[in-house]
Amino acid sequence: MHEASLGYVHKLDMQDDLKEFRSKFRFPEHNGKKQIYFLGNSLGLQPVTTAGYINKVLDQWQAEGVESFFRGNDPWMDYHDHLTRPLAGILGALPEEITVMNQLTVNLHLMLISFYRPQGKRTKIICEAKAFPSDQYMLETHVKHYGFDPGSTIIEVQPKSGQYLIEEEDILAAIDKHRDELALVLWGGVNYYTGQVFNIKAIAKAAHDAGAKAGFDLAHAAGNISLNLHDWNVDFACWCNYKYLNGGPGTVGGAFIHQRYHNDSSISRFAGWWGYEKSTRFLMEKEFVPVKSAEGWQLSTPSPILHACLRASLDIFDEAGWHKIQEKKKLLNDWCWFLLEHLIEESPGDNIEFLTTPRGEGSQVSILVKRNGKSIFESLGAHGIMSDWREPDVIRIAPVPLYNSFEDVWHFYEVFRSMMK
Ligand SMILES: Cc1ncc(COP(=O)(O)O)c(C=O)c1O
Repeated sequence: MHEASLGYVHKLDMQDDLKEFRSKFRFPEHNGKKQIYFLGNSLGLQPVTTAGYINKVLDQWQAEGVESFFRGNDPWMDYHDHLTRPLAGILGALPEEITVMNQLTVNLHLMLISFYRPQGKRTKIICEAKAFPSDQYMLETHVKHYGFDPGSTIIEVQPKSGQYLIEEEDILAAIDKHRDELALVLWGGVNYYTGQVFNIKAIAKAAHDAGAKAGFDLAHAAGNISLNLHDWNVDFACWCNYKYLNGGPGTVGGAFIHQRYHNDSSISRFAGWWGYEKSTRFLMEKEFVPVKSAEGWQLSTPSPILHACLRASLDIFDEAGWHKIQEKKKLLNDWCWFLLEHLIEESPGDNIEFLTTPRGEGSQVSILVKRNGKSIFESLGAHGIMSDWREPDVIRIAPVPLYNSFEDVWHFYEVFRSMMK
């Protein structure tokens, strides 16, 4: 059982196997003091090593020009492999099921070309209500592209009246209800607003049972929750690498395409030369021959500079070990929820409500504050705690295992508690 005291939290930090990993990141400072950063769900912190990794690419560029793609210790042609192996571990995939390319929204569009194939009356897409706006626009424009009406083709599953979270039984029931007309289920791994973690395995299975494809937006899941995309039979998934994966602002996105499609010559796709078979790519021949892996969905020359940004972070994940990171996340979550529940006990009343399921799997906690939410948020900022404000009344925090301490969460609790009083 935990104890709400500073002495106790020091003990938790002392016992933390990953405590040294904080020093591998650069923290924003305020008046010369490092801030407490709870925004890893938005933009992960910069690894101390990122600049060195980028400089190495710049030096290669300077020394070898375009030959850097083929020469030196780290030819850029193979740079991608440094990313797919660690990402496969984090996402529960085979390395050949992962590619790092483009951006999240672009990748979702590309995946829909392959996996949204409306035929006959099978045209519908099921998605979560209040999905991230980019996903909504992406679905809307695909549906219009095929000449369908988004209003009747896209089925949004809503939370039950008066609730914030979408119940799994409602998702499965919607899939079943539309089973004869369903082409695709496109769902999030973790909802950006509520922090709700969804049961990807169950959703993928229900979609397949209905004869539809199942794709996932893992922006808030990759590097956060434990995933097993290959075994869960997910058809495709896309994510950004700049949130929990610390790859830097606007860095390259990622895509997973299940192995069973790699040799499927009937699959539709938009192609570019970087998806062409590697050994013969530079023969520049007519007719597209895809790489027989997720790389076959690549279009354009990648940026080794952006790859280097991501590699700097993934090397830290490798060093820490994904299993250890997950273990610490559980402990950090447990501590955070202990303090949040304590907060409610200490300040009874109805001023705060949690949107996120208490003691759930994800790092993010979304707290709905009914009165003075904005001033509590501002006070957190004034105390050097960087959290996130979503209009009209939600504070989001995401304590992440690689660079947040148990004491960080304690400070959050103390400031929040004093403001509640
Ligand atoms: C859930 C989700 N989907 C899509 C996006 C859009 O990502 P991008 O701007 O990299 O295309 C974001 C961005 O934060 C997101 O959180």
